[in-house]
Amino acid sequence: MGEIVRLQKYIAMCGEASRRAAEQLIEEGKVSVNGEKVTSQGIKVEIGADKVTISGRQIEPCKKLYYIMLNKPVGYVSTVKDQFSRPAVTDLLGDEIKARLFPVGRLDYDTEGLILMTNDGDFSYKITHPKHNVEKTYIAVLKGGITIGGLNRLRNGVRLSDGFVTSPARAEIIDTPKGMTAVKITIHEGKNRQVRRMFEAVGSKVAELKRISINGVELGNLPLGRWRYLTAHEISKLKNL
Ligand code: URA
Repeated sequence: MGEIVRLQKYIAMCGEASRRAAEQLIEEGKVSVNGEKVTSQGIKVEIGADKVTISGRQIEPCKKLYYIMLNKPVGYVSTVKDQFSRPAVTDLLGDEIKARLFPVGRLDYDTEGLILMTNDGDFSYKITHPKHNVEKTYIAVLKGGITIGGLNRLRNGVRLSDGFVTSPARAEIIDTPKGMTAVKITIHEGKNRQVRRMFEAVGSKVAELKRISINGVELGNLPLGRWRYLTAHEISKLKNL
């Protein structure tokens, strides 16, 4: 008998989507098991015995798992598909990798920097799950300056416009180019446009935003728009959360 797993985990193991996106596919009625459409989330399947299809196409657990990092330029969406047909990070992968990779979490269209991509849905699920408090570091270039009071509010936790209070962040000024201020900030939450909104809450405007590390895995000098495989050491750093 094969291993029995929840359907959304099986879909993730097949490299089709993250677990969360798999739940959506189920909700949308696109998934069938042994020819029967499934719409509830509790279903389990036996690997190697049950036949799972998405929109009629049979899927199988991936044999080869990929883990890469990419330096996303501004002007690319970090989803696989975009409703406005804007360029997507997947367009930057070229044809060396035959598997379908998806981005781990999101970076805004107007943010650049480190994004991880994989076909390992469990890996993606773990890194993006709030309970793991994965640290992400950004360089935010502000128009104008920031006060010590503002920095301290970011460090202590700040109330955003929607009422959410952020956890304490690490924040320090690292440069003051002409009329601008570069701040290095580390957070472990992932609310929509969180870094921009944190600065907004303390009266600063972010002109440029770049992510430079995730859980100690650094973007380094990877050129903009390029990707590379993660090292075994980096993969284990991200898996052992
Ligand atoms: N915070 C933001 O404001 N934007 C991002 O893309 C990531 C974090």
